Amino acid sequence: MWSRLSVKHWRKAPQNKVQDYSSFTALTHLPFDSEVFGFPFFRLNTEARESLSRDLESLRNLDLPVFGCDAKVSGLDNSDVRYLQEEGFVHVCDQVTFEASPTDSDLRLDGGVTELKNLEPMSIASHANNFKKDRLSLDSRIPSDTISRFYSKWIENSFSFPNKAVYALESGLCIPQLKKDILKIDLVSVLEKRKGVGTRLIGHILAQASEAKISRVEVTTESNNEGAINIYTRNGFREKARTSCLHFFHHDKQKSD
Ligand SMILES: CC(C)(COP(=O)(O)OP(=O)(O)OC[C@H]1O[C@@H](n2cnc3c(N)ncnc32)[C@H](O)[C@@H]1OP(=O)(O)O)[C@@H](O)C(=O)NCCC(=O)NCCS
Repeated sequence: MWSRLSVKHWRKAPQNKVQDYSSFTALTHLPFDSEVFGFPFFRLNTEARESLSRDLESLRNLDLPVFGCDAKVSGLDNSDVRYLQEEGFVHVCDQVTFEASPTDSDLRLDGGVTELKNLEPMSIASHANNFKKDRLSLDSRIPSDTISRFYSKWIENSFSFPNKAVYALESGLCIPQLKKDILKIDLVSVLEKRKGVGTRLIGHILAQASEAKISRVEVTTESNNEGAINIYTRNGFREKARTSCLHFFHHDKQKSD
């Protein structure tokens, strides 16, 4: 089981072999997470959870030394959480999704905010190390260098997505992503905290959305992230939904040692 998987296994884990996971119905392969972790990683489609045991069994039969998956269970229905815990998932945290309707309010663009086309590796590394209350950091089984790698690649990749933009204000960074007609705030990070930078960045994103006639802006954060929750509620965001976040890791010691 996972308790036997130490930090070295994340580094030693063999690169993902090309596998065909198309027969899975409950689990969807996540290429980005798999590349960062060094082993196959999946997301549970909770609506198909009755196929979870079968998909997990198929994965165990694939001769993989390590694999993992996450699940986001909506609402406060503990029966789903209990079911997943019985399958070996660990509850890591709860997340809250907030939404705002920028066209409703009188918003102003912030003259200090600039759009970036790239960012120095040192700055990317500083922001990647700034996340301490996110669902990866709250899972003590995930090493901190893996989490830094995750956020570094996330920020780096953002520059090449046509529907994402990267904005900076002083030591702060904000990455919104347009998905259909909803603007999702993908990442916010401020290095010199509690100077109002986070609040200003979010205000600017709302004003921009208002100018672009985008009627809905959404953001998800961990329910324990008081600083993040404050910058959203100060800007008029309202709670929309709560989700329980669970992680599962399988480790076959004989195959990975
Ligand atoms: C969340 C974050 C972006 C906030 O940025 P910030 O520039 O510090 O935010 P602001 O200065 O605008 O803070 C607004 C208010 O939130 C509250 N707040 C900020 N940080 C807080 C903290 N760590 N704990 C409790 N309240 C906090 C305060 O009320 C603050 O106002 P005040 O200092 O006048 O009391 C920043 O803390 C950060 O980068 N955290 C790490 C990355 C992260 O968690 N990102 C969010 C993921 S969704």
